Amino acid sequence: MEERFERETEGLRRSWGKYDRETLADYLVQDVEDPRINIQSILMRHFLVRSLFGERFAELMVHELRFALVVNWLVKLLRKQARAGQLQAVLDALMSGEDDAEGLAVPKYVSQTFATLAMPNYMFDLFNWAPVETTEVPVPEHLMATFQTIWREVLEAESRGRVSVLEPACGSGNDYRFIESFGIARLLDYTGFDLCEKNISNAKGMFPNVRFEVGNVLEIKSPDNAFDYCFVHDLFEHLSVEAMEAAIAEVCRVTRQGVCVGFFNMHEADEHIVEIVEDYHWNKLSAIKTREIFERHAWAVEVIGIDKFLASKFNCGDTHNKDAYTIIIKM
Ligand SMILES: C[S@@+](CC[C@H](N)C(=O)[O-])C[C@H]1O[C@@H](n2cnc3c(N)ncnc32)[C@H](O)[C@@H]1O
Repeated sequence: MEERFERETEGLRRSWGKYDRETLADYLVQDVEDPRINIQSILMRHFLVRSLFGERFAELMVHELRFALVVNWLVKLLRKQARAGQLQAVLDALMSGEDDAEGLAVPKYVSQTFATLAMPNYMFDLFNWAPVETTEVPVPEHLMATFQTIWREVLEAESRGRVSVLEPACGSGNDYRFIESFGIARLLDYTGFDLCEKNISNAKGMFPNVRFEVGNVLEIKSPDNAFDYCFVHDLFEHLSVEAMEAAIAEVCRVTRQGVCVGFFNMHEADEHIVEIVEDYHWNKLSAIKTREIFERHAWAVEVIGIDKFLASKFNCGDTHNKDAYTIIIKM
């Protein structure tokens, strides 16, 4: 590895090494980042399911995205400490086809989702309980797990394929936990690596039989085309532009068929905005330039601006992060 990348690696190692194990285990799977309702995590799981089954579960995927939008709206409502009876008012409005629930506007994508479902459905449960008025309450766990239960059931009868998947920068198995609980992991041959030892030790603690390793995306210790698919979330913004280009080349070198990449800080402009924060970067990446980098290694690159995607597909303008993008690459 080039010396400048070795130096950068040291900085990256320090940046994540300073957090304690508990923080690393939890900070990226909470609230809007919860992979059960985070649109980018859902798109990535759909990417994996498509790699196994093509378009067979396309309808279920649309329902899951709608579920995530409705729960994200509910989470926001609960954060404002919803009044007792307010959720019931939403349910009454949905059932009578009104867009006003005692003064609260019910977004179109929520009522349209209700209209796509047979009765009874999960939205009855989501809006049929009374939160404590004085504190912020979470959505009950069994409701958060609605699609986890559905995916587990529909995939239960399927047998393991021959699809291998690599996840660089896997954190503490943040997304893996849900690939597992959704019944997808047992169908794949998964390998995850991360630069931060504490993350890998967390991941191994949860899944002792899964291949989690300490590794560097700037020098992946695998031969060319070693994996069928690869996915990676929220890493490239933290690298220098030169290191990002090297990392993308590495990811594409070891992958045979397709890559799914989640970005948290991207824009439509022509240029990257480089920002150094202590030992690492917090760049705003140009979607145009990043596409061009992937195009050097792949034959098809699809750039999905999450905000635009949700607006055009579901009429939803409530994305929590307007700078979130997912890029899907076919090799
Ligand atoms: C923002 S976190 C994202 C973690 C996980 N992908 C997620 O989305 O929850 C960035 C991760 O990248 C890892 N990382 C940073 N530089 C890396 C490198 N050069 N190689 C591998 N992992 C790296 C960090 O240790 C950290 O776990």
